[in-house]
Amino acid sequence: MTWLSILALLCSLTCPATSLGIGSLNLLTHRSAAPKSSLQSRAAQRVGELWLPQDIYAGSTFFDNFTFWEQADPTKGQVSYVNSSTAFANGLAYVQADGAVVMKGDDFTVLPPGAARDSVRITSNANYTGGLFILDLNQAPWGCGVWPAWWTVGPNWPGGGEIDIIEGVHDNTHNQVTWHTNPGCSLTNTGNYTGTVLKDDCDANVDDNAGCGVTDWSRDSYGPQFDAGGGGIYAMLWDETGIAVWYFYRNAIPDDITNLSPQPSGWSEPSAYLSPQNCNLTEFFYQHQIVFDITFCGVWAGNSYATSGCPGTCSDRIRDPNNFVNASWSINSLRVYSKEIVYGASGSLGGPAAPSIQVTLLASLTLCVLALLLL
Ligand SMILES: *[C@@H]1O[C@H](CO)[C@@H](O)[C@H](O)[C@H]1NC(C)=O
Ligand SMILES: *[C@@H]1O[C@H](CO)[C@@H](O)[C@H](O)[C@H]1NC(C)=O
Ligand SMILES: *[C@@H]1O[C@H](CO)[C@@H](O)[C@H](O)[C@H]1NC(C)=O
Ligand SMILES: *[C@@H]1O[C@H](CO)[C@@H](O)[C@H](O)[C@H]1NC(C)=O
Ligand SMILES: *[C@@H]1O[C@H](CO)[C@@H](O)[C@H](O)[C@H]1NC(C)=O
Ligand SMILES: *[C@@H]1O[C@H](CO)[C@@H](O)[C@H](O)[C@H]1NC(C)=O
Repeated sequence: MTWLSILALLCSLTCPATSLGIGSLNLLTHRSAAPKSSLQSRAAQRVGELWLPQDIYAGSTFFDNFTFWEQADPTKGQVSYVNSSTAFANGLAYVQADGAVVMKGDDFTVLPPGAARDSVRITSNANYTGGLFILDLNQAPWGCGVWPAWWTVGPNWPGGGEIDIIEGVHDNTHNQVTWHTNPGCSLTNTGNYTGTVLKDDCDANVDDNAGCGVTDWSRDSYGPQFDAGGGGIYAMLWDETGIAVWYFYRNAIPDDITNLSPQPSGWSEPSAYLSPQNCNLTEFFYQHQIVFDITFCGVWAGNSYATSGCPGTCSDRIRDPNNFVNASWSINSLRVYSKEIVYGASGSLGGPAAPSIQVTLLASLTLCVLALLLL
């Protein structure tokens, strides 16, 4: 390829993305738009990748892009999921003056025995087949009897798959990442992630839908310490190389995340990673919507309550609102990035990424403008 055609390519990549501020290409569209050649020569032409902003969920518009779940809890929680009007009216969902988005369980109503506690579950209107999802949290819910999750899920469950990115119960301190799929997908437990494997078969039909799970090594990754440290960042990367989850403590967030130009190839090993080696990602994961919820008791928090060290029974725990003061999400932003593979100069797969993405973008933008002026 000539120098000029490389520039033209970069230009065509940059111009639409820059002028819209949004790279609306999804991974599949993009992959089918890649040069039609053998895998090997494609690999040889690949020089790097960019993660471009696709969607931002934050601040006063956050709830515009989610739908409140108004049905019973499929996980059998002692919970009553409220609609958006009730959530906003009762202060179970709101946006603070500083832009933080709060969703919480009712922490002000004393309940009679056996009654369900009000809470919130929301689902994104948009769905994704791949992407880089970066959630910046001040606080995640926890406490005896509390079972929150941030997860993504496809249609025809478990057909489209499920990725649980943040999940735990009670006063747990280690986050748990779990995948649930149709039969035929499993984790490779041979490494390249820092967490501990709980079970490697992702099949939702076995072991009471335990899924394939990985526990984060850090005792700051969930619950009291997570909140005490001011929260942090959870990132989930889903592309043809696998599905990986990172947790970054507030004081250890990579600069490229803060600068909104994430480069996951430069991050440390993920906490959890589902490799495509024993799982056909195309077959088991597609069209995922993003979900946040907080439930109480139910199949995980209820069944594990007696051995959790929490007092009394889970059902009794539900009655006193003071037990739910920490059952709250506080979200700074959820940003979704989509991948642009940069093809061009010769090089090998896994070769150096584009030297500086900012410089490349700036240079190609300048060239775009010059080209337009010349025309
Ligand atoms: C969010 O909602 C706004 C307003 O309805 C809409 O323009 C935008 O496309 C939505 N974004 C996503 C990711 O759903
Ligand atoms: C929301 O839920 C409340 C309480 O159940 C109900 O009275 C109200 O009609 C619902 N609102 C909508 C818009 O469905
Ligand atoms: C995902 O989004 C596409 C495009 O808007 C839509 O056609 C499809 O039905 C959606 N799938 C799900 C599961 O919501
Ligand atoms: C783990 O990483 C090493 C070094 O980067 C690589 O050679 C190996 O193939 C990886 N293993 C898996 C299971 O991805
Ligand atoms: C993975 O699944 C897709 C979709 O079902 C299929 O087209 C593809 O052939 C599968 N790949 C392998 C290696 O089995
Ligand atoms: C809520 O969090 C605070 C601060 O960590 C802690 O002292 C308190 O015991 C927690 N309350 C409950 C009900 O978990």
